[in-house]
Amino acid sequence: MRGNYYGPLAVRVAFFMSTNTAYQHIWWEGGTLGLLDQRLLPQQEVAVQCTTLGDVVYAIQSMQVRGAPAIGCTAAYGMALVAHQALGSTAELLAQLTAAKAALDASRPTAVNLAWATARMLQVAQAHASASPKVLRDTLLHEAHAIMAEDLAMCYAIGEHGLALIPPRGHVLTHCNAGGLATAGLGTALAPIRLAYERGRSIHVFVDETRPFLQGARLTAWELQRAGVPLTLITDNMSAYFMRKGEVDCVIVGADRVVANGDIANKIGTYGLAVLAQAHGIPFYVAAPSSTIDLTLPDGDAIPIEQRDPAEVTTIAGHNIAPVGVQAAHPAFDITPNHLITALITEQGVITPPYASKLRQMMHAPASIRVVR
Ligand code: MRU
Repeated sequence: MRGNYYGPLAVRVAFFMSTNTAYQHIWWEGGTLGLLDQRLLPQQEVAVQCTTLGDVVYAIQSMQVRGAPAIGCTAAYGMALVAHQALGSTAELLAQLTAAKAALDASRPTAVNLAWATARMLQVAQAHASASPKVLRDTLLHEAHAIMAEDLAMCYAIGEHGLALIPPRGHVLTHCNAGGLATAGLGTALAPIRLAYERGRSIHVFVDETRPFLQGARLTAWELQRAGVPLTLITDNMSAYFMRKGEVDCVIVGADRVVANGDIANKIGTYGLAVLAQAHGIPFYVAAPSSTIDLTLPDGDAIPIEQRDPAEVTTIAGHNIAPVGVQAAHPAFDITPNHLITALITEQGVITPPYASKLRQMMHAPASIRVVR
């Protein structure tokens, strides 16, 4: 365990933009994967060390690490870990990596970043089928570092593109945690907010507590407070109150999957917020990198929704809040249909409806091509 490991990400990631905004909560050290245990925040900052594939699967499943891009990065390191520990031939390693991909992909089904990252790692491995196990090991670790670094770069680009959407003296409402903790650093929905604040713009954030896992209260509030961004923590059922009072200028959330028609999956409660935003004439923005975009699914109905343990609803921090034995449900995500989304903020630019053709254009165009509004 280490004490304060929140240093500049540049210390551990090879190519990195110089900033003090990003911090590190996923790292590779001495052939093991280190993670900040997000379940313990904000009370404790404790590191977990993953030394086996099983540790990595558990970390994702149990939400020691969470957030779509962050679990993608973690899964990539999980594949690198398998390679690091393999003793046999390259052919045996390829078989182990195929099995590891299946185990990692099954750990959480909704965020496509996970399967996207493991597929990329497996493709790289297959492309090196004739290499020695050592070369393959080094190549896979390099690829996992690259996935981390690219995610961070995409967060910064999302921040730059999203800045223009935040009105002067903007009051922004966000849900769940789509910040540095949910990515390689900086975040998606929180990226424009963080950059606006850093550049001296007056900004204020309403943070939904996000029951039942409390990512807003525990993680977003923690991140924004550390960064000095003014915030007000509210319970999920207060959003409509502040919208009706005219105190919310826009909503920005992240996504776990954006599909071909522009429907998105995000943390449970996102759909309700989008309906409320439309009812009050408030823009509703979704910030997501291309690793979250899945054009293989036609619409939101096709997205698998993770059903988590109902005990996460009937308890808070281990304390029962409901009658013992009561039936409860815990769908961890919901679908927001495209017609409720004012714009998607991606690393390549801001996309407004109609989404289908623009998403196709974006995903098939070289990264240097900017999608314009
Ligand atoms: O269950 P979680 O905490 O992994 O859910 C996270 C979210 O829903 C985020 O909004 C999403 O992953 C985007 S993170 C940049």
